[in-house]
Amino acid sequence: MKSKILVTGGLGFIGSHTVVALQQQGFEVVIIDNLSNSSIDVLAGITKITQTTPEFVNIDLRNKDAVIDFFEKYQDITGVIHFAASKAVGESVENPLLYYENNLSTLIYILQQLSKKNKASFIFSSSCTVYGQADNLPITENAPVKKAMSPYGNTKQIGEEIIMDTCKVYPSLKAISLRYFNPIGAHPSTEIGELPIGTPQNLVPFITQTAIGKREQLSVFGNDYPTSDGTCVRDYIHVVDLAQAHVVALKKLMEEEALGKNYDVFNLGTGKGNSVLEVIQSFERSTGEKLPFKIVDRREGDITAAYADTNKANTGLNWRAEHSLDEALKSAWKWEKKVFKNED
Ligand code: WQD
Repeated sequence: MKSKILVTGGLGFIGSHTVVALQQQGFEVVIIDNLSNSSIDVLAGITKITQTTPEFVNIDLRNKDAVIDFFEKYQDITGVIHFAASKAVGESVENPLLYYENNLSTLIYILQQLSKKNKASFIFSSSCTVYGQADNLPITENAPVKKAMSPYGNTKQIGEEIIMDTCKVYPSLKAISLRYFNPIGAHPSTEIGELPIGTPQNLVPFITQTAIGKREQLSVFGNDYPTSDGTCVRDYIHVVDLAQAHVVALKKLMEEEALGKNYDVFNLGTGKGNSVLEVIQSFERSTGEKLPFKIVDRREGDITAAYADTNKANTGLNWRAEHSLDEALKSAWKWEKKVFKNED
């Protein structure tokens, strides 16, 4: 009997890659997505890879009654991976209430339903943004959570606290927060990837759209940071590695009897930091494409450097990132060419 897992935001970038990994590892998947930042076409992409179409329910998780009805209908769901949230840092500054409502009320409604069950496993999509500019690198899970630089980051911090407090009261609920570093790349099949909705805020989709000619040139936001070449350093992790970590974390919760504690946190990164210029060099080297760019002023809110200490995930989840930066960028480029061809 396959375990049935709910993946909220399962038509999104990381969500869709996780659905594929779940299906390939024997889970039955139900997706909830309100299509606010994804496309129904992703369902076909998932099916092309796994030959199995996950059940899809179009619910806005801000509708509490809809969430209650869902869990009454799907009594057999005991595992949830919760991706559904708004995630644009800049937008969250302009529209904080949208972010607090969408990212927190939805989390609360789901936890209210899971807490009624005599056994439930919950994986939360969190972010290294909770660390702000960490005092020490690489960043461990014990690094202090700093005052969030944006409402988006604050919803991740508050979200983790809501889960932690809930787990204290409901021992039947076991949960893990996964703090992503910088997810990039696309599935090797090029059937799924990061959808080009609007102007890319993140580095790698802007790079691939520049290389394919959709954007004139990449603006590098500052080269006067205290780093090897003056540009910011991040830990870029292949989305396929990130997806696998979710399956491993869920299995840990569902299969292990006592975690000892029923709440834990793991960093998900490669453990390696690369500067923006190094990413550009890696992209050019791995694709053979020349990337036009210019150095401009710093972007408000950017931190200098962040990369993960991966020991806890390596040992606690028996998981480590397997793809190199070159491989991730090559997969992003393959995806960009596929999208561009389909747009013709
Ligand atoms: C990476 C580096 C930019 C674009 C954000 C969120 C984080 C997570 C991942 C959700 C920075 C530089 C970027 C460009 C550039 N999202 N850059 N030119 O800001 O590290 O993290 O996305 O969880 O929460 O904060 O990622 O890709 O935007 O930027 O020079 O056109 O690339 O300055 O140094 P970031 P990013």
